[in-house]
Amino acid sequence: MEIKQVHPLFVGEVGGIDLSRLLDAATAKDVVAAMDRYAVLVFHDQAIDDPQQIAFSQLFGPIETTRHLINPNHKLRLDKHIADISNLDDQNRIMAPDARRRMSGLANRLWHSDSSYKPISATYSILSAKVLPSWGGETEFADTRAAYDALSPQLKAQVDGLVALHSIHTSRAKVGFTDFADEERAALPPVPQSLVRVHPGSGRKALFLASHAGSILDMPLPEGMMLLHDLIEHATQRQFVYTHRWRVGDLVMWDNRCTLHRGRPYDMAEVRDLHRTTVSDMANDKRGVARASAA
Ligand code: OGA
Ligand code: MN
Repeated sequence: MEIKQVHPLFVGEVGGIDLSRLLDAATAKDVVAAMDRYAVLVFHDQAIDDPQQIAFSQLFGPIETTRHLINPNHKLRLDKHIADISNLDDQNRIMAPDARRRMSGLANRLWHSDSSYKPISATYSILSAKVLPSWGGETEFADTRAAYDALSPQLKAQVDGLVALHSIHTSRAKVGFTDFADEERAALPPVPQSLVRVHPGSGRKALFLASHAGSILDMPLPEGMMLLHDLIEHATQRQFVYTHRWRVGDLVMWDNRCTLHRGRPYDMAEVRDLHRTTVSDMANDKRGVARASAA
């Protein structure tokens, strides 16, 4: 496995590895060490199917099932362990502009960290490109360890110890999507997350932000919202951002504990099909507190 750093702060491009074959334990450990260092790893020319992607992902911990299972009317196009990052419906047709998953999925273009709104958040997301549009559709990543380091001493002192509430309904409301089934609202109450987390594999502090974060505990709403706006604006300045221009067969793996990401626009009359698996962060289990704060 060889790694070339492709951004001044983070992101490694990995060569010499075939993800269609199950990695041995030593190589999986090398991947974790590289993730701790680079936060985002890019693997090119990986023609893997969903079972292979699932098997690779499970080397790093238990993986999520899609939140769409909560809605009994939602028809899945892909295996329940795959987050369907496409503009296709369950019949593989391009979704109509007013399709629920298309409208809700537009919020992926806001800076976020995957599953920060879930009672068990995520360590890694692993995204593979199957079909790409002729232009646009890049995915951007921001380094929130570097962003934390670059805060003024005053802001560091201000944010340390603060807790934000994260909800999927908050990020969707930011693009005007509020059409959630009652089961969905009840199943996903706001989750408290520390605004600054120590990234376990590197010992570095990181800002833990996301479009899902809507308020700060024990702070007036406007003050908390403004602080979150300012911090996301700070963390996503160009010097902290890597833009991934996809090629079919790319697999990109990122650490949600120390990065933000967002999708970029493309021609939605063309197909864009990417498949994501997501590894659960068992060390950040908020099942007890999530219920408490919803009351
Ligand atoms: C994701 C995501 C953005 C994109 O897969 O988690 O946010 O580029 N993707 O589609
Ligand atoms: Mn995402």
